[in-house]
Amino acid sequence: MPQPCNVVVLLSGTGSNLQALIDATTAEGNPARVCAVISNRAEAYGLVRAREAGIATAVLDHRQYEGREAFDEALIGAIDQHQPSLVVLAGFMRILTPAFVRHYHGRLLNIHPSLLPLYKGLHTHQRVLEAGDAEHGCSVHFVTEELDGGPLVLQAVVRVDSGDTPATLAQRVHAREHQIYPLAVRWFAEGRLKLAGDGSVQLDAQALPASGHVIRH
Ligand code: GRF
Repeated sequence: MPQPCNVVVLLSGTGSNLQALIDATTAEGNPARVCAVISNRAEAYGLVRAREAGIATAVLDHRQYEGREAFDEALIGAIDQHQPSLVVLAGFMRILTPAFVRHYHGRLLNIHPSLLPLYKGLHTHQRVLEAGDAEHGCSVHFVTEELDGGPLVLQAVVRVDSGDTPATLAQRVHAREHQIYPLAVRWFAEGRLKLAGDGSVQLDAQALPASGHVIRH
């Protein structure tokens, strides 16, 4: 059995990706283990999911801090109490400071509901429909100082159907998020996934293409 890999998850909302991670990491043979969930919102449903799974939780309300730097410093303190090998952003609706991102360089993952580098930012499903794209999807990436811009690990492609609305598309993309995020976390926990010194992403000591590993329909 490989060494357990402690993961801290940060979220602000529903936490369906957290649930997918909990379900995957409690399966036998998965070395990743969610050891704490931290939210900036006390009402985030993801905290309920964590408590139900017996996982430690903490709330740090960003409104109680004077500025982004002070909040992120406190957040680092709360995360590092758990000495995680990996920090996972799962719908954490905060822009992180460069100091925070640097502190977790190579061990901070995010998931974004688009085929990055397309559609950084919010309302991705609506923007894809407005543009008339034939394909959409989701991406897991290492976090760097550029918002939604870090090196890609894994993408899942979803076909856009003619009758799709932002809600139907979001639902299908979400279902793929719940597959690819646990997979990326498992790769990391198994020591197979690394951010190399040259900024490339390596899986099993091979550099991945710029798109990361792509899973189609
Ligand atoms: C997901 O769409 C993810 O891609 C984005 O935030 C959303 C979180 O959803 N970063 P949930 O809270 O995991 O359901």
